[in-house]
Parts: sequence; structure tokens; C-alpha cells
Amino acid sequence: MNKTWWKESVIYQIYPRSFMDSNADGIGDIKGITGKLDYLKYLGIDVIWLSPVYQSPNDDNGYDISDYQAIMTEFGTMEDFDEMLKVAHARGIRIVMDLVVNHTSDEHKWFMESRKSKENKYRDYYIWREGKSSSTPPNNWGACFGGSAWEYDKQTDMYYLHLFSKKQPDLNWDCPDVRKEVFDMMTWWCEKGIDGFRMDVISMISKTKEMPDGEVHDLYGDFNPYCVHGPNVHKYLQEMNEKVLSKYDIMTVGETSGVTPKQARLYAGEDRNELNMVFQFEHVESDGKYGKWTDRKLPLKTLKEIMSRWQTELYGQAWNSLFWDNHDQPRAVSRFGSDHPTYRESSAKMLATCLHMMQGTPYIYQGEELGMTNYPFQSMQDFKDIESIHAYEEWCKSGRLSHDTFWPCLTFKSRDNARTPMQWDDTEHAGFTSGTPWIAVNPNYTQINAKLQTHDPDSVFHYYKKLIALRKQYPVIVYGKYELLCPESDDLFVYTRTLEDTKMLVVCSFTEKNTTFEIPEPFTNAQCLISNMNHSYQNKTIQLQPYEAFVLFI
Ligand code: GLC
Ligand code: CA
Repeated sequence: MNKTWWKESVIYQIYPRSFMDSNADGIGDIKGITGKLDYLKYLGIDVIWLSPVYQSPNDDNGYDISDYQAIMTEFGTMEDFDEMLKVAHARGIRIVMDLVVNHTSDEHKWFMESRKSKENKYRDYYIWREGKSSSTPPNNWGACFGGSAWEYDKQTDMYYLHLFSKKQPDLNWDCPDVRKEVFDMMTWWCEKGIDGFRMDVISMISKTKEMPDGEVHDLYGDFNPYCVHGPNVHKYLQEMNEKVLSKYDIMTVGETSGVTPKQARLYAGEDRNELNMVFQFEHVESDGKYGKWTDRKLPLKTLKEIMSRWQTELYGQAWNSLFWDNHDQPRAVSRFGSDHPTYRESSAKMLATCLHMMQGTPYIYQGEELGMTNYPFQSMQDFKDIESIHAYEEWCKSGRLSHDTFWPCLTFKSRDNARTPMQWDDTEHAGFTSGTPWIAVNPNYTQINAKLQTHDPDSVFHYYKKLIALRKQYPVIVYGKYELLCPESDDLFVYTRTLEDTKMLVVCSFTEKNTTFEIPEPFTNAQCLISNMNHSYQNKTIQLQPYEAFVLFI
């Protein structure tokens, strides 16, 4: 297995809109980030993944880009960006950009041209089809944010494809000019000195030419088999690698929802010349009741089965990305642990232990290092996210589900849980802004905030800091081989890591009950690297507290 910097790094995801506002307009911005780099340096992370900061009309908060080479006006200027990059590099922090090239905004100049006429030079940059009739789209595919995946455009009496919102038309990657434009744009950013790309829904860039109807599950047909892991996706990524990625010392991670370990080895295999790693989503997408919507926790056994399969099946062949949450997921502690005040801190630390001791590159989503929780939504007015708003319309207003059935699922899974402002201190609006925040701050900011936690050596923050430091100190954490123990336990997630003659035992309780655990032979009298309880692990039989976690090393 090759040793590389990105395997040894810990990555911190910033969602700029909600991170730090520097000019009191209620919207996080680039200067806000620059001002907090010392905080991140103190935490010890190596790399920032920056969610999109490009020019955008914000139909999907920056994931709808109208100019790839300009900074969103609300976030600042290109000078602000250059300054942030410089200050980050001076602190030894790398910056990975979000690359959203499955689609653009409908306000991108390519699309504004493309829709003008069938003869336009940019026509072929997007995916245009005749309808089955004037009122029936070309096929039955539904868009990820609801409705048909096709939008009728009367200027040329044709439909364009949008797998997300109708303001996010899909680019036609089969058009060589599109690929050239994208690769040139990526090169431009690399020349600026950025350190890599997180590639948004990159597994969707290649579509089956024929575009047949998909199987109907809910209201609309599935597009999945026809444009996820499509026919030319690996060809295009290899071309991207050859023309851009291979020329720079950068890291890449592909967002590949629905990927299997076998497919992941194609995207990120050590010998494939495509990407460095992918995000798989099995552990966050297996709990749905109504599409992605649910109010239930994944049973621990299922979670262990999924995580362990990825640990085992990529071992030595491709590299894992490790995450509990991101800007599209609810807060980890509310979802996999407990946000009840009695258990919040211990379960946040336990989850961090469980993830950071696995093989792969760990990602921390802003506020996770504080154990930030889901938001107590009261009414639909509280939601800002296009996905949540559309979902409510599709499931409730349509009469398919009652409000009472859907509401707990919506509030449990909404992406807005992750998008409430970062909680910096206990002043008004959690120190995020001195204006009016674009989305409400979680009212628990007076108890949960960075200021309190950076001063408290027992805080969730300091626990993360310690986990990150351990990773730098013990190669077994990065490179060791994983083995699951106690697969049948409904309460405990236990595994070992082994590298040459060093070995680690990781024990995590996922329950509010007290449990008992027998330390396996080689680890009796071992050194304890970290624990979220004040406990000695010298005895063979251990009484575990709710959400207890510890790591032993020999
Ligand atoms: C990805 C992003 C998500 C966005 C979607 C469309 O899944 O993470 O936030 O809405 O792609 O770009
Ligand atoms: Ca601002």
C-alpha cells in the first residue's frame, strides 16, 4: 500500500454560508473563514474541503454554479479567496475545492446560449430531447429534488434534463467541448495552487444514450441504472486524470452515491488513474422509509455490517473516506448517538472514536467537533432547503402521507439540520454574525459552542483534537488492517487494527444501557490511548457506561 499525505490527513468540511460572517449581512463568507483558520489549526486538521464558493444564484446554495471562475458576490472576491489560500498554506492547511460539473446553473452563460436555438454553438453542451408529445417529457425519470427530471423550454419546443432542480441543467459530457472547458477550468484552479477537488455527484456525468423509462417506485421512474455509473464515466475520469489531475500533487474524492465496493475499486483503485477515494453512502442511505426520509436509527448490527464490509473490501486496493455527516445529512450525534443532554457529549466522543480509528481518511463536518445537534424545527417556515421544501410538497401536500407521519421524518433527516450556523460563542446568534443570520441558529448555542469547548480540556472539541493527534503518532491508525469482533452484539461496535507487530482494540458502546465487555487476551494490561470515561481498563471484565468508548494499544 502506497503511503501518501492524503491517507494520513484529517479533512474538515466547511459550508461557507453557515461558517462565519465577517460583514454582518447574515451570510458566512470567505473573510470569515480566513479569520477562523487559527481555530482549525488548533484543532489539528490538515485539509479543508470547501463547499462551493463560486458565483451562483443559490437555488441549491452554490451547487448551481453560474461562473466557475468567479467568487459568489455574497462570499467576497477572488482577492479574498487568494488571501485565504495564502493564510491557510502558511499554516500548513490545504484547501480542496468542490467541483460541481454534472450540471451548471441555468444562469450560466453556456446554458443561456444553449437554450436560444437548436443551432447555437452551445446547444450540445446540455442534454436536449423532444418530448413524447408536447405535454409529455421524453421519459419518466424523476429529479432528485422532486418532479420530472425534464423541463420543457418553449424557445425551441424541447425538454432539457436536470437530475436535480430545474435550475441545475445537466451538462452533456459526451460533448468533447464540455470536457475541454471543464478540464481547462480545473487546470486554472490548480495553477492557482489549490490542493484538490471533491467532485459533486461525479458518478452521474455519463448517461445511457437511449434514455429509457425507469422502473416506477414512487411517483416517477428511476434514472439510476441509466445515468449513475453510466457507460463512459470511467473513460471520462481517466481523461480528466490524464489531462489535469496527474499533473499536480492534489487529492480527489468523488461523491458516488449508491456505489458498491466493487465499483469503488474502479473509481479509486490504486492502479486505476481516476480518483484517490470516493464517498460511499450505504451507512447513511440504508435507513429510508419514504425515499430517503425516515425517523428511525439504523440497527447497530446493520451499521457494523456495512462499515466492516467497506473496511475489508477496499483493503489494499482502494482508500476509504470516513464520515458520519456532511452538509446533506443530519447531525451525527442526533442520528447515530443521542442529543439528549445526558448522553450528547459521551455519544459524540464515542462516534468520533469509532470512525477515526478506522482505515481511511476521516472527514469532520463543521460543528461536529463540538457535538452540534439537529435543529428543533417547529413549522415549515423554518426550512430553507429546496430538498426539504419540495419533499413536503411531494409527500404531504399531494396527500400521499399525513403531516403527522411525514413530519418526524423530515425533521430527523432534513439537510437544514447541518446548515444552521456554526456555534462560536454564547453571544447573540452564537457569534456567527452581528446581523440577522440567513437561517436560524440552534437555540442550544449557549451550552454548545466553540468558546466554551476550546477552554474545557474534557470537551468534545478536545477529544477530537486528541484523536487527530493520535493519528499522526500511530501508523496503525492509518495503515493497519481492520477486523470486526463481536459481530452479533446489538450494543457494542468492537474491532481491531493490526500493523506489523502493533495492534489496537477499539470498543464503542452504542447504547444507553450499561453493558459488560471481556477484554480479549492480548489486550489485558495494554496501554489505553484514549477513552471518553474516567476508567481503568486493566481488569479483564469491564463494566461499560452508556456510550463508553476506549482504545487499547499493544
Ligand atoms: C450533491 C451535493 C448536494 C447538492 C447536489 C446537487 O449531492 O452534496 O448538496 O444538492 O449534489 O449538486
Ligand atoms: Ca457575510
